[in-house]
Amino acid sequence: MHVILLGTGAGGGVPQWNCGCHNCRAARARGRGRTQSSVAVSADGERWILLNASPDLRTQLAAHAPFWPVEIRDSRIRAVVLTDGEIDHTLGLLLLREGTTRMPVYAPSGVAALLAGPWPLTNVLEPYSGIDVRPLPPSRSAALTDGDGRSLDLTCTAVPLGRRPPRYAPQATTGDLEVGLRIQDRATGGSFAYVPSAAAVDDDVCALAAGTDLLCFDGTFWSDAELHGLGIVAPSARAMGHVPLGGPDGSLQRLSHVGAKRTVLVHINNTNPILASDSPERAEVAAAGVEIGEDGMDFSL
Ligand code: MLT
Ligand code: MN
Ligand code: ZN
Repeated sequence: MHVILLGTGAGGGVPQWNCGCHNCRAARARGRGRTQSSVAVSADGERWILLNASPDLRTQLAAHAPFWPVEIRDSRIRAVVLTDGEIDHTLGLLLLREGTTRMPVYAPSGVAALLAGPWPLTNVLEPYSGIDVRPLPPSRSAALTDGDGRSLDLTCTAVPLGRRPPRYAPQATTGDLEVGLRIQDRATGGSFAYVPSAAAVDDDVCALAAGTDLLCFDGTFWSDAELHGLGIVAPSARAMGHVPLGGPDGSLQRLSHVGAKRTVLVHINNTNPILASDSPERAEVAAAGVEIGEDGMDFSL
């Protein structure tokens, strides 16, 4: 299985358009930042599945040769799997509207309901190429297939992680609104756990990630009051459903015990001090044996 980290930033990316924090200023000065959270996986390097569709999808697909068309109309993206209905993980569906065939979109039940209602991408996209929203059954392995029902040679298990609803739909309570994914390549035995958003490193996350070759985990915030500490009026990390990395009850203490062979942080917010090259927080991540994801990192599992 091939895995490409298309984007490793949280919502807003790095730099975020309206942010003058240390990390955003440094990214502007370097001319290099982070696009928003998404990963591409493929069994054969030719037919790809997007795990979430970010607002930066267009640049992300342009950045990697395996996605470039050869025919006059030609898509290497055969399906999308959504972990949640957040804007930074779904807005990219709008950017696939030039497609010539209906795009399969695997979604947990609650997310499918969001796309049919308060975030009406299903209807909006219908006059364009359209999306085929397919259920992602909780905690059962499902074989992923393309628009014609042909196997994409990867299976996906979606484990509900119980997030609060997105800010745009506070009343949404039915169905699964957030899942972690375990993607498996039966031919190679390769396995990949993708958890870009999680409220805790709990038994569900451990069960999902145990024994996998690679775990990509929620690295959004270092501390619970990170935004508040910078003078930004915003909820705490935990109130937003993101377990912070640092501190005695942070994720970093537990990540080395979940049993993944390699752990890489993704969905990293621009305010997170682990992004500063000389920060003690960054050194703590390294000391825990955890890696900080970068856009364009790739893996063969
Ligand atoms: C999140 O990850 O919590 C959301 O993407 C936040 C947001 O963009 O509103
Ligand atoms: Mn997000
Ligand atoms: Zn910033």
